[in-house]
Amino acid sequence: MRHVAVLLIAAAALCAALAEAGAQLRGHGGPVRALAVSPDGLTAVTGSFDTSAIRWSLQRNAAEQVMRFHESAVNAVAILKDGRIVTGGEDGRVALWAAGADKPERVFAGHTATVAAVAASPDGSTIASASWDRTVRLWPVAGGEPRVLEGHQDNVNGVAFSPDGRLLVSVGYDASVRIWPFRSEAAPIVRTVPSPLNSVAVAPDGEIVVGGADGQVRFLSPAGDLRGEVETGPSPIISIAVSGDGALAAAAGIRGSVAIVGRAEGKLARTLVGPGLPVWSLAFAPDHRTLLTGGADRLVRRWNASTGEHLGSLTMSGAEDPLAAFAGDRGAEIYRACVACHTLKPDEGNRAGPTLHGLFGRRIASLPGYKFSDALTNMDIVWTPETVAKLFEVGPMAYTPGTKMPEQRITSAEDREALVEFLKKATR
Ligand code: HEC
Repeated sequence: MRHVAVLLIAAAALCAALAEAGAQLRGHGGPVRALAVSPDGLTAVTGSFDTSAIRWSLQRNAAEQVMRFHESAVNAVAILKDGRIVTGGEDGRVALWAAGADKPERVFAGHTATVAAVAASPDGSTIASASWDRTVRLWPVAGGEPRVLEGHQDNVNGVAFSPDGRLLVSVGYDASVRIWPFRSEAAPIVRTVPSPLNSVAVAPDGEIVVGGADGQVRFLSPAGDLRGEVETGPSPIISIAVSGDGALAAAAGIRGSVAIVGRAEGKLARTLVGPGLPVWSLAFAPDHRTLLTGGADRLVRRWNASTGEHLGSLTMSGAEDPLAAFAGDRGAEIYRACVACHTLKPDEGNRAGPTLHGLFGRRIASLPGYKFSDALTNMDIVWTPETVAKLFEVGPMAYTPGTKMPEQRITSAEDREALVEFLKKATR
């Protein structure tokens, strides 16, 4: 009897671990630098140092689209109210994507240095981008010349619209907050604080929340008056988000934790501790309590910002773990890095990547019904255990240049072997 009990506990623990693994969004090959959630809470968009952006279904915990266009890190993402996606890159470019498209519908070029942040105006007409070339640019979504906002004396790191769409706020390494009237050419209000600034958000009531290199969250009125500050810790704040009901502000520190500040109390409410730190990017879900974080561990994780709890199985209602049947298989564990983008069974269809059902013996980019990158269609590769192992030994960028699959390598030969053995069984 004792043994049975122990086994049951082990099985329960394993199920919890599997469910938790499924609740995270795993697909990027580098730290998740940027994160946005759609107003209906169904979709998230992430940008990564791996040079790709991914559109995720938060219901299915699956990647639906990989966007490869930028030449280096994707530092910033935003979602327009009509569902189109904006990405901003270290390559200085801003791109506009229709959901599902394999190329940007429009590219906004003009910045001469890294784009650090982007924001969409609430009316959907304009994209704002903040750049290390010390300018903010306002791009008409429909195309045409941008309005260039000059005045920052150093890198501009953050930009946000007020929810009523009347103001645009930018912050920079010059320690200034600039509050620009969006609809007129009038001069901005300029306020200087005692620290270089990395990030800005505007609360529903118009209060401006900025995160500094000194670890302080500062609150300013729409007219620029400093209303309060909360110390979150010694390390620089890299990202700031405010919940849709305005109750909470979240601040991610570059060297570690995420601080949750109660805005009414003006106090540090709690600090998130757990896996996935440091965090590079933050976004609240529309329930105002679920906080999504993108971190150095390449995952998007979910937290309950009211309790500080790291959410695993709680968010899994509806979505089942496709790998539950392979519990204990090392290869299946390695395959967790693939599951957001690929399916294995004939009836599961394509996700952001083609189904791997029937992979072995298939010529690269030959699966009907999936739109592969042009670069792949001329390649002379047939998928065998050897070529699949090679793909992840040298990495997709080197083995299949021009691919939109995010860069990822499996450095251990044993792990590559385990993955291939698993795929042999699971894709038949
Ligand atoms: C973030 C999404 C993503 C992840 C994670 C991912 N892939 Fe892919 N994969 C893709 C995309 C997209 C393509 C299509 C590439 C193209 O058309 O440029 C692809 C293509 C492939 C192909 C070529 C298929 C064909 O029919 O030619 C193989 C094989 C493959 N992936 C295996 C894997 C394995 C194994 C893993 C995990 C170790 C993995 N992928 C992880 C998105 C992903």
